[in-house]
Amino acid sequence: MAQRNNCATSRFSGEMKKYPRNVVVVFLVSLCKLLPSTVVAGLYTASDQIILLSPDNVKPVLVNSSTAIVVEFYASWCGHCIAFSPVYKRLARDIKEWKPAVDLAAIDCADEESRKVCTGFGIRAYPTLKFFHAYGQNDSAGQAFKGFPRDVRGLRHHIVDQLENHQEPWPPACPPLEPTSQAEIDIFLETNNVQHLALIFEDVSSYIGREVTLDLLQFENIAVRRVLSTEEGLVTKMGVTEFPSCYLYYPGGNFTRLKVNIEARAFYSFALQRLPGVVRSGKPPPVTTDLINKQTEDPWRPFNRSSVYMADLESTLHYSLRVELAAHPVITGEGLTSLRKYISVLAEYFPGRPMLMNLLKSLNLWLQNQAGNQVSYQAFLEILENSAQAPDTALPEGVRWVGCQGSQPHLRRYPCGVWTLFHLLTVQAKKSDGSDPQEVLSAMRGYIRNFFGCRACAEHFENMAKESLTEVNTYSAAILWLWSRHNRVNNRIAGSLSEDPNFPKIQWPSPDMCKACHTVKDNGEHRWNNEQVLPFLQTYFSAERILTDYLEDESVVLAKQKEKRITLQQILEGQKRAERKARDAITAQTLPPPAHAAVEEEVEEYEEEEEEEEDEVVSDEEEEGMDGGAEMEGKTLEPTPWAPAETKLDPDRLHNSRKPSIVGMKTRDQQEDIVDLDSFVNQHYKAKVMQVATSSRVKQRTLQRNQEEQDSGPVFGLGMELDAGLGMVGLQPLEPDFGPNTRMQKRELTGRLFSSEEVGLGQGGRWVSMLSIGFSKVDISLCVILYFLSSMCLLAMYLFFRTRVRLRRAKVSLP
Ligand SMILES: Cc1cc2nc3c(=O)[nH]c(=O)nc-3n(C[C@H](O)[C@H](O)[C@H](O)COP(=O)(O)OP(=O)(O)OC[C@H]3O[C@@H](n4cnc5c(N)ncnc54)[C@H](O)[C@@H]3O)c2cc1C
Ligand SMILES: *[C@@H]1O[C@H](CO)[C@@H](O)[C@H](O)[C@H]1NC(C)=O
Ligand SMILES: *[C@@H]1O[C@H](CO)[C@@H](O)[C@H](O)[C@H]1NC(C)=O
Repeated sequence: MAQRNNCATSRFSGEMKKYPRNVVVVFLVSLCKLLPSTVVAGLYTASDQIILLSPDNVKPVLVNSSTAIVVEFYASWCGHCIAFSPVYKRLARDIKEWKPAVDLAAIDCADEESRKVCTGFGIRAYPTLKFFHAYGQNDSAGQAFKGFPRDVRGLRHHIVDQLENHQEPWPPACPPLEPTSQAEIDIFLETNNVQHLALIFEDVSSYIGREVTLDLLQFENIAVRRVLSTEEGLVTKMGVTEFPSCYLYYPGGNFTRLKVNIEARAFYSFALQRLPGVVRSGKPPPVTTDLINKQTEDPWRPFNRSSVYMADLESTLHYSLRVELAAHPVITGEGLTSLRKYISVLAEYFPGRPMLMNLLKSLNLWLQNQAGNQVSYQAFLEILENSAQAPDTALPEGVRWVGCQGSQPHLRRYPCGVWTLFHLLTVQAKKSDGSDPQEVLSAMRGYIRNFFGCRACAEHFENMAKESLTEVNTYSAAILWLWSRHNRVNNRIAGSLSEDPNFPKIQWPSPDMCKACHTVKDNGEHRWNNEQVLPFLQTYFSAERILTDYLEDESVVLAKQKEKRITLQQILEGQKRAERKARDAITAQTLPPPAHAAVEEEVEEYEEEEEEEEDEVVSDEEEEGMDGGAEMEGKTLEPTPWAPAETKLDPDRLHNSRKPSIVGMKTRDQQEDIVDLDSFVNQHYKAKVMQVATSSRVKQRTLQRNQEEQDSGPVFGLGMELDAGLGMVGLQPLEPDFGPNTRMQKRELTGRLFSSEEVGLGQGGRWVSMLSIGFSKVDISLCVILYFLSSMCLLAMYLFFRTRVRLRRAKVSLP
């Protein structure tokens, strides 16, 4: 039971195929309930961008930190704390960009273990907020916020005050916050080499200048300073009449006014972050199309950034249905319910081309008619590939990203497509006048939770859904809910590794895309104008506006499908033939044979196998599958007991879904009957596989970890590591194999398909071992010795004749 701790996997993927299902699931579920599956500290979760304090981390976080930290001490049972928690979360999102200077933390004093910490800080009432200076000592008790405001704006101002009055040592990432003067600006421009200097002119009581300064602290090539309206020299010199207002100031005294829709913090920050040359620290600058074309195989497809492309949507469906779902050989329980809902909303609302709609409808019909509690992916695939050959029914094969193209292969693409797809579906559903406004969102939630490859994303999304999805009670609310949650994700991952420098995460739509969507409250705080956002989204995601550029023609898609079916049939027939021959050969060997005939047969077999090896299409695994006596295409074939789960016959695997099993080949040493010759050949093929893998068109990364490692932590941990390390990239845990041969677990890290050549090659090594069927070690060694002797003999003869010829020539040339 190596998988015992793997709560996340079992909870989300529900594919406990190889053990008696119920027992395992019940066991795992109960175990998961015992273990804290995620870090949930009372009122906050890991998705809230708030440091969750516990006795273990309180010292490392608070003592000698390079950032100032605000800590909320609360009790999860206290009503005021519960009421305050949404404000604190909003504050965290609001000042997310300030993190390098000041961060937010929270600790649940109702927690048995944490109580001592709270008593240590002298907390008597909840909630209490305290400000801890940067580089605080061990005994620092923090400064309490007395009678603090319960709104984001008030809290933010309070934090600005605390920062501005911060004692030495100053948090190094925090820019200067005090007002500037003409003299200072001149010195600044002489001594600093920034591209832009933004001056915000404002009254002394205004916080905008300091807030914008902090909003930009993570950006390079720009500095922001506030100038008070009382700084007469500058005000008159630049003719400033409006407060607040923002000017860009350049060496030599040149300046221009920053154009914004509304003179407010959000608009300044957005505009300044987008000035030419301004980049987020640590991020490479945006790359040009030429460079992208050099870096990636796919040529860049120019597109309109404010449009939705059908090519992205079809690519998303291809990846979702053919690749992501394929990781789940058997779909049961909650997974099956989710799949049904997902396909059902697609069939109902997806504004696709006729052939795709036909396919979705037949998938839907088939799924709804499956009476049992489980469905095999193989059977699903049958319908997906239109094996029944219904006319004008197909899902285009492969991906072709357009609006979701990334500047690098691991950026954007599939997750971008998933968002686009579901936004579109929420908008389409509104037109339908149905009776379940949550239909699309709950289908999305189920799909993400059960199948979406990025587990950390799924966890965050589930946190958001748990919090407020039930409040959605109209179709408009559903559209707006998804839009605002997507913006939360954008806020959380802005600047992270999954952010494409060419497509920075913004609060969407930007003021340039939808001016009317943005407005301010009386106090100058930014406010979304939902009355404008809703129609904007409805237009943006309307079926009529979807662009069909770069799509393959329906007739071409259908022809390809037909072709694919024919080749598939041929492959399967070829396999059958080869398998029959192999079986005959074995029978011939075990029975006393007419020696002559058997030899001929074997020779023939060698030739054929060699040929197929080059084709790199047929794998031993498929043959093994066929060995089980199963019939034609499509029937689920039971794998041999020792074979890994993946060895079921899956024609489509030729095109996608699994990595070449480089690792799998290693595990062959367990099989005693394979002689050294074999492992030599294996080595050779391994080298070849490596070569192909590295030179492959599609750059892929795999992360392999064995199960020992896996035991030590839940899958989420890894998911988040990867999330941090590689950005969000169609991260897809494959279910662990229990067979003795497969101690490795693989994860697929790219949203890319695996080309057939790689799959074929990966299996080549194992396939080659078929050659040794019926040979003993002695046989093979004899063979090798004989071969060696005969070649030495030939060599000797060659040398002999060569020297003779030379001698003769020499004689002839002599006078
Ligand atoms: C459910 C889900 C959860 C995710 N969670 C994480 C996570 O926790 N961590 C992580 O690193 N990545 C996560 N991702 C991936 C991440 O959100 C992006 O999809 C990915 O980084 C690609 O970003 P993108 O630039 O293509 O824009 P995306 O965010 O994918 O957006 C795609 C397109 O939708 C439009 N758009 C942007 N914002 C909105 C909006 N608010 N409303 C409507 N349309 C909008 C824009 O045109 C944009 O180009 C998640 C993805 C999904 C589907
Ligand atoms: C605090 O951190 C700084 C660097 O971040 C280090 O130089 C210093 O020694 C630390 N002080 C203590 C008391 O740990
Ligand atoms: C992009 O699409 C929008 C909306 O359809 C349109 O208004 C705009 O003109 C298009 N831009 C270009 C460059 O085609």
